[in-house]
Amino acid sequence: MGLWVHSSFLVSSSLFMVLGIVYQGNAAAYGPVSGCDFFTGRWVFDPSYPLYSASACPFIKREFSCQKNGRQDLIYTQYRWQPLDCTLTRFNAFNFLEKFSGKSIMFVGDSLSRNQWQSLTCMLHSAVPNAEFNITRVGDVSTFEFLDYGVKVMLDRSVYLVDVVMEKIGRVLKLDSIEGGKLWKGIDMLIFNTWHWWNRRGPTQPWDFIEVGGVIKKDMDRMLAFETALNTWARWVDANIDPAKSLVFFQGISPSHYNGSSWNEPKAKNCLGQKQPLLGTTYPGGLPPALDVLKKVLSTVKKPVKLLDITMLSLLRKDGHPSMYGLGAPLGMDCSHWCLAGVPDTWNEILYNLIL
Ligand SMILES: *[C@@H]1O[C@H](CO)[C@@H](O)[C@H](O)[C@H]1NC(C)=O
Ligand SMILES: *[C@@H]1O[C@H](CO)[C@@H](O)[C@H](O)[C@H]1NC(C)=O
Repeated sequence: MGLWVHSSFLVSSSLFMVLGIVYQGNAAAYGPVSGCDFFTGRWVFDPSYPLYSASACPFIKREFSCQKNGRQDLIYTQYRWQPLDCTLTRFNAFNFLEKFSGKSIMFVGDSLSRNQWQSLTCMLHSAVPNAEFNITRVGDVSTFEFLDYGVKVMLDRSVYLVDVVMEKIGRVLKLDSIEGGKLWKGIDMLIFNTWHWWNRRGPTQPWDFIEVGGVIKKDMDRMLAFETALNTWARWVDANIDPAKSLVFFQGISPSHYNGSSWNEPKAKNCLGQKQPLLGTTYPGGLPPALDVLKKVLSTVKKPVKLLDITMLSLLRKDGHPSMYGLGAPLGMDCSHWCLAGVPDTWNEILYNLIL
């Protein structure tokens, strides 16, 4: 790596991919940056960010509206992700809308998917504030449609990806059943995520029993349950995705910041008052074990699925959460979701670079 070839060479970028050569298009124009690892890098201060002002996005949900909820510091919105080997192409909403004209994009997962879905709709809407849009919800699916462009950006709320079914004995989390997948068929770009709900216990656990291999249990090892469900999802992808039509991504594991020991600040009990990212390339507390499980399952999928490997870059952003400026402000303490504008904009900017 390290050999930079300019686009003036009349050789197709796919050839460079085959050869494994780093290929950088004209920096001003958009172009593939094949061979660059977008997920290894550092945060750099860049006053040309954020990509939009929160006030230019009137539909941000209260849980992500940190400024509206009273957060005063804004420096955290002005960091740009800088991969070590290349520079990301800045998000261009017009280019994105044109590319997906007549097409549909769907985020599937828990509230971290909602976070990324809202981020993308803000990134698009703020660039075309006068374009007509229609936000509708049917069941668990919300659709943000850009009417002038015929682009649908959708969210399917499915915290486990696999099914939770009401039966006589109670609510059953079925690790081998993924009927919910019927909503995902024919979508042009899918971005999946599940993790945060697998460790829920007590009154907010949304199931009473867990079923696997025809056996009903009261509970089981949660990491194993997560892996089993991901395997079910992987089989769904192999059976239902037409790679000629659909792009499939997995969001990766979005990290929380409730223990300062993991960023060498043992006095910090949560993310409150954090105003700056960690400026290195690695996180002192290391990566969450769930990421290994996810990578292992993804390696078994035969159809093309790309991991949007946002874990490390998000771990470095202890400053990016709502803390006391989220849902339930000022009493709640949210160090799991992300303020908008903020970190999920970078997830979407990387997604954009992956599909250019
Ligand atoms: C918005 O979506 C709803 C539900 O699909 C539909 O009934 C309505 O006609 C749409 N509005 C516009 C302006 O397209
Ligand atoms: C925070 O992490 C440290 C080191 O892993 C651990 O010893 C400590 O118990 C944790 N604190 C809490 C409140 O979980």
